[in-house]
Amino acid sequence: MALQVELVPTGEIIRVVHPHRPCKLALGSDGVRVTMESALTARDRVGVQDFVLLENFTSEAAFIENLRRRFRENLIYTYIGPVLVSVNPYRDLQIYSRQHMERYRGVSFYEVPPHLFAVADTVYRALRTERRDQAVMISGESGAGKTEATKRLLQFYAETCPAPERGGAVRDRLLQSNPVLEAFGNAKTLRNDNSSRFGKYMDVQFDFKGAPVGGHILSYLLEKSRVVHQNHGERNFHIFYQLLEGGEEETLRRLGLERNPQSYLYLVKGQCAKVSSINDKSDWKVVRKALTVIDFTEDEVEDLLSIVASVLHLGNIHFAANEESNAQVTTENQLKYLTRLLSVEGSTLREALTHRKIIAKGEELLSPLNLEQAAYARDALAKAVYSRTFTWLVGKINRSLASKDVESPSWRSTTVLGLLDIYGFEVFQHNSFEQFCINYCNEKLQQLFIELTLKSEQEEYEAEGIAWEPVQYFNNKIICDLVEEKFKGIISILDEECLRPGEATDLTFLEKLEDTVKHHPHFLTHKLADQRTRKSLGRGEFRLLHYAGEVTYSVTGFLDKNNDLLFRNLKETMCSSKNPIMSQCFDRSELSDKKRPETVATQFKMSLLQLVEILQSKEPAYVRCIKPNDAKQPGRFDEVLIRHQVKYLGLLENLRVRRAGFAYRRKYEAFLQRYKSLCPETWPTWAGRPQDGVAVLVRHLGYKPEEYKMGRTKIFIRFPKTLFATEDALEVRRQSLATKIQAAWRGFHWRQKFLRVKRSAICIQSWWRGTLGRRKAAKRKWAAQTIRRLIRGFVLRHAPRCPENAFFLDHVRTSFLLNLRRQLPQNVLDTSWPTPPPALREASELLRELCIKNMVWKYCRSISPEWKQQQKAVASEIFKGKKDNYPQSVPRLFISTRLGTDEISPRVLQALGSEPIQYAVPVVKYDRKGYKPRSRQLLLTPNAVVIVEDAKVKQRIDYANLTGISVSSLSDSLFVLHVQRADNKQKGDVVLQSDHVIETLTKTALSANRVNSININQGSITFAGGPGRDGTIDFTPGSELLITKAKNGHLAVVAPRLNSR
Ligand SMILES: Nc1ncnc2c1ncn2[C@@H]1O[C@H](COP(=O)(O)OP(=O)(O)O)[C@@H](O)[C@H]1O
Ligand SMILES: [Mg+2]
Repeated sequence: MALQVELVPTGEIIRVVHPHRPCKLALGSDGVRVTMESALTARDRVGVQDFVLLENFTSEAAFIENLRRRFRENLIYTYIGPVLVSVNPYRDLQIYSRQHMERYRGVSFYEVPPHLFAVADTVYRALRTERRDQAVMISGESGAGKTEATKRLLQFYAETCPAPERGGAVRDRLLQSNPVLEAFGNAKTLRNDNSSRFGKYMDVQFDFKGAPVGGHILSYLLEKSRVVHQNHGERNFHIFYQLLEGGEEETLRRLGLERNPQSYLYLVKGQCAKVSSINDKSDWKVVRKALTVIDFTEDEVEDLLSIVASVLHLGNIHFAANEESNAQVTTENQLKYLTRLLSVEGSTLREALTHRKIIAKGEELLSPLNLEQAAYARDALAKAVYSRTFTWLVGKINRSLASKDVESPSWRSTTVLGLLDIYGFEVFQHNSFEQFCINYCNEKLQQLFIELTLKSEQEEYEAEGIAWEPVQYFNNKIICDLVEEKFKGIISILDEECLRPGEATDLTFLEKLEDTVKHHPHFLTHKLADQRTRKSLGRGEFRLLHYAGEVTYSVTGFLDKNNDLLFRNLKETMCSSKNPIMSQCFDRSELSDKKRPETVATQFKMSLLQLVEILQSKEPAYVRCIKPNDAKQPGRFDEVLIRHQVKYLGLLENLRVRRAGFAYRRKYEAFLQRYKSLCPETWPTWAGRPQDGVAVLVRHLGYKPEEYKMGRTKIFIRFPKTLFATEDALEVRRQSLATKIQAAWRGFHWRQKFLRVKRSAICIQSWWRGTLGRRKAAKRKWAAQTIRRLIRGFVLRHAPRCPENAFFLDHVRTSFLLNLRRQLPQNVLDTSWPTPPPALREASELLRELCIKNMVWKYCRSISPEWKQQQKAVASEIFKGKKDNYPQSVPRLFISTRLGTDEISPRVLQALGSEPIQYAVPVVKYDRKGYKPRSRQLLLTPNAVVIVEDAKVKQRIDYANLTGISVSSLSDSLFVLHVQRADNKQKGDVVLQSDHVIETLTKTALSANRVNSININQGSITFAGGPGRDGTIDFTPGSELLITKAKNGHLAVVAPRLNSR
C-alpha cells in the first residue's frame, strides 16, 4: 500500500494508513502521527507555532508574516505563550471533530499543535485539578470568530466531559441555549452575517467529578435600536425573518402576519431582508426545537411569538395629523392585532400611542403627541418590548440551566468555567451610542487583559525566583478613565446632560464634553482639531483615540438612547398586559418607583465593572480572534486589516511582555522529557531531580550562562535560536534513536518469533515422542502378553486344547509350518526333516512324503538323457552306503572315456588291432614290491582290461582272468584288480589308483560283467603280489590322503574322512 501523507489544518502531518478513510484512521490510534508543530524544524514552512519563538519579536512585519504563512496552510491557530491567536478561516476546516477532541484531551499544551481544544482542555484540567474557577476570554472585532469559538468550546465540554449523574439534559440545554439567544440577539451587520448584538458571559458549573451540572448567562446591552432601524445592508434580529420564513401557515394566521418581510417597515430599513448565507427557514426549525429543549411550554412559545409579531405590527402603525396637528392612529387593523397579541385594552393602547401622561402637582394630565412624538413613542415601545423580552428570555434560559441540585453538597463544591463572548471593537461609517458602549467595553477588557498578563508574567518570575525586568507597554487606562471617570468622564457628562433641567440636546452635550475634556490627548472634536484633522470631523461628532484606533462618534441620539425613556402611559398599558411574558417584563412596581432609573450608560458601566470583577476572580485564558478580510471570504489575507487588529489587540505588546526576558520557558520535567536523549547522562532516564537533570543537560549542550536561567520549577531560555539549535540536534538524534529502536524492535520481534517457533517445535517433538513412547509401550505390553500366553501355553502344552494353550499350540503349529519352508531337505539324498509338534505329526509325515515326491519328480524331470544311463544306477547299487567318496561322484556325470584316441599311442592301438577301446582313463599304478607309483593308462576293450605304459601294453587282463576287484570303504581312490594265477603270463594282482574311481570301477565291472565281484573292504586289502608272495594294503581314516609304504611292508593308505556317509 502506498504511503500517504496529509497535512491537516491543525498542523500535523499524518501518515494515512488507509487511503479511503484517511480522517478516521489518521486520527485514531492506527495512524502514525508526526507532529509537525512540535517538530520545530518544520518552522520554515509553516512559521512558528508560538510567536515567542520569533527571532525578531519586536517586528510587526515578522509577526504578520508568521500569521500569513500559517494562514496560507490553513493553520489558523498560533500561540503567544498561553494566549491563543485565531484567524477566522471563513471555511469549514474539519478540525472540530470528535477525533480532534480526543486528540487534545489530556495532552501537554505545547506538545500538540495549537488548537482551541488545547486551550479548552488545559482550562478544564486546571479547573478539575486545582479546583479554581476559570474564565476563557474571547475577544476580537466583529466577525473575527468569537461566537464560533464559544460554540466550539461549549461543544467540546458537552462532548468530552463526563455526564452528570442526574440531569444529563444540562448538556443539551447548554448547547441549545445558543440558537435561541442567537435568533433573538444576533443580526446581520456589514461586518458579520451573524453578529452578536449583545454581550454574553456564560458560566458553566462543573461538579467535583468534572461533569457539567448547570449554567448561567449574563447578557450585556442588547443593541435595541436595531429593532426599529437598520443601516443599509444590515438586518433586524434574525428571529423576525425566521418567523416569517419558517412559521407554519396556521401560526402566521394567528399572529396576523404575512410571509413577506417587505410588508414590515421594521424589516426593510436596511433593504436586505434576504441574505444568501442565512437559511432562515431551517434556522427556524432549529430554534423551535431548541425552545422545547430549554423547557419552553407550547403556551410560552405562543406568548413569545405573539410578542415578536407585535413588534412587527407596531412598526406598521401609522399616524396622521388632525387639525390640531395631533397624531391619530390610521392603521386600525394593526392596532387590532396588537391589542390581541399583547392582550391589552385597545383604547388604552391607542391613547398611549398618541398621548403622553404627565403628572403635575399630583394630577395626571394627558397631553396629545404630534406626529414625530407619536412615532418616537411607538419606536420606544417596540424597543422596550423587544429588549425586555430578550432579558426575560435570558432569565428563562438561566432557570432552565440552573443546577437542579441546589441543595445537594455537590452544588457547593462546583467550580465554574466562564466563557466571555462579548461584542468586538466596532467602527462603522456612522458610529453612535451603541458603538461608544461597545468600544468602551473593549477598552475595559483590553485593560484587564494587559493587567492580567503582565501580572501573571510578573508572578511567574517571582515564583521562579528570577529578577523581573520592567516592560514598556501601552496602558489604556487613560482611555478608560476618559470614558468612565466620575464627574470628568464622558459617561458622567452624558448623564449630567440627561438629567439637567432645561433644554439639553445632543449638541449641548458635545459642547460640555469639549469644555471638560478638551485637553485629553485621546479626545478630539471639530473645534479642538487642527486644520488637517478638522476636515474629517463633522460638527456634531467627537473622536476618541482608542487603543485600537480612532473612532468618530456622532452625538445624535446619545441623550435619548442614554435616557431610554418610555412614556409613563405606555408603561402602564404594558403593565396591564395579560400576556404572561409581558406582565413579567413590565412590573407595576416600576410605576410607583419615584426614583429615576439609572441611565443606560451608567448601567452598562456598572455591569462592566461587575464583569471585570467576575473575570478577575477567575484564572484567565485568552483567545484572541482576528478577521482576515472584510469580505467574509476564505483564503484572503488582508494585510492592512490584520495589521490593524494585531495592533489594537495589543498582540505585539503581549509578545513583548512575554519575551521581556526569556523567549521560552518550560517545566523542568517537560524540558528534560523532551531533550533528555541529547545527553548521555540523562538518557534514557535521569534518576535524580529533574532540575539537576536539566542542569546536566544544558551544560552538556553547551548553553552559555547568559542564554538561560534556572528558575524554581522551570528553565528560562532567552533566545529562540538557542532552542532551535537544541531542536535541530534533537531531530538528528531522533533519527539515530529511531534506527536503534527499530533495530531493537526487530530483534525483539524476531526473537519472539523464534521463541514461538521453538516452543512449537518442542511441542511437536514432545507430542511425537509421546506417540512413539505410547506405541512402544503398546508393543511391549503386547509382547509381554504374548510371552505370557506362550509360557502359559507351553506349561499346558500337553493338556487338551483350551483357551490358555490355544495360542501356544497355534503358534507352534504355524511356526513349525513357517520354519519348515526354510528347513526343507535340499536334495533327494538329504534325509533331514524338522521334528513336528505332536499335533502335526501326521501332517508332517504327509508333507514330507509330498516334499520328497516333489523333489524326486523335479529331479527326474531335470536329469538329461546321459544321466539316465544305467551305469549310474549300477554304481549306486555297488557303492551306495558302502564307500565314502561315492556321494561326491553322484552329481558328476560318467563320461564315455577320459582319454581320446589321440592321447593313446598308435602303437597301442595297433597292438589292440581290431579290438575297440570302450573306455580309457589315466591311472597310477603302484609297484607290487616297492609300491612305487607309476603313471599308466587303463583301457577297457570288449574283452580285457589293458594297462598301458606310454606306447607299450604292459599288462593285458582278460575278463575271464579277472577274479575280483577290491576297494576300501574309505574315501581313497585305490583299487585292486585280482587276476587268476593260473595264467602264467599274468604277473599278479594290480594296485591302481584312479581319480574317477567310481566311474572307472563301474565301467570295468560292467565291461567284465563282474558287478557282483567288487568287494568293498574295511581296514585292509590283501592281494597277490607275485608267485607265492602276497601284499597288503592298510586303510585308515585320517585328515588327508597319504599313500606310503609302511615299515611292515604294507602299503598304508590314510584316507580323509568325508562325512557323506
Ligand atoms: N473557526 C472557524 N471556522 C470556520 N468559520 C468560522 C470560524 N470562526 C468564524 N467563522 C465564520 O465567521 C463568521 C463570523 O464568526 P462569529 O463567531 O460570529 O464572529 P464574532 O462573534 O466574532 O462576531 C461565522 O459565522 C463563520 O461563518
Ligand atoms: Mg459574535
